[in-house]
Amino acid sequence: MAKTVKAKKRERAERLREKHKKEVWKPGTMLYPVPAVMVSCADLSGRDNIITVAWTGIVCSDPAMVYISVRPERFSYKMIEESGEFVINLSSEALVKSTDFCGVRSGRDIDKWEACGLTRGRASKLKAPLIEESPVNIECAVEKVIKLGSHDMFIGRVLAVDVEARFIDERGRLSLDKCKLTAYSHGEYYALGKLLGSFGYSVRKKD
Ligand SMILES: Cc1cc2nc3c(=O)[nH]c(=O)nc-3n(C[C@H](O)[C@H](O)[C@H](O)COP(=O)(O)O)c2cc1C
Repeated sequence: MAKTVKAKKRERAERLREKHKKEVWKPGTMLYPVPAVMVSCADLSGRDNIITVAWTGIVCSDPAMVYISVRPERFSYKMIEESGEFVINLSSEALVKSTDFCGVRSGRDIDKWEACGLTRGRASKLKAPLIEESPVNIECAVEKVIKLGSHDMFIGRVLAVDVEARFIDERGRLSLDKCKLTAYSHGEYYALGKLLGSFGYSVRKKD
């Protein structure tokens, strides 16, 4: 006897459930991919440092606000807390090794700028230096610190964004795709893959 539509739907749902069967894990931060960025900072005496941060993101468009979450025991923590500023430097393929290095060595022991061959640049609004080799530097003033547990979340108001001029097209738009940015996923660094679509493409009319 031919299967009813209802029976076919039920079987399909069953197959899907089987294919996507889940195990429930304990709470964890399995939210990937994220950007791993290099955050530059300085204390009030002018001593500066770079720390790699993957717990970072956008929290508001207007005013432009971002966050970084930093463990209080990091050498950089005091610098950011004391100065109330930090720079988020986006990581490109060329910078991925430095990004890893700045995340496994402490500024307590070494000068990471020198160790990685990175260049201090003058930020337009902050005393903290930016990383010249990074294609995009986001200058932030700490707006709020939220203590969450292992990490404190520094919410930063974006005061300026420094964009490498060679990535700006003739219409004044940033060609971020040309910057060769990287992503961090579950302990691994990746180059970005192929373009799959653009904002709103799922509903855009084709002519
Ligand atoms: C890919 C990657 C991501 C990291 N993300 C964070 C982060 O979001 N917050 C944090 O406190 N530490 C993070 N770390 C660890 C710090 O970067 C690391 O402890 C670093 O050595 C601290 O530098 P400092 O002691 O000079 O401040 C990350 C490390 C790596 C390699």
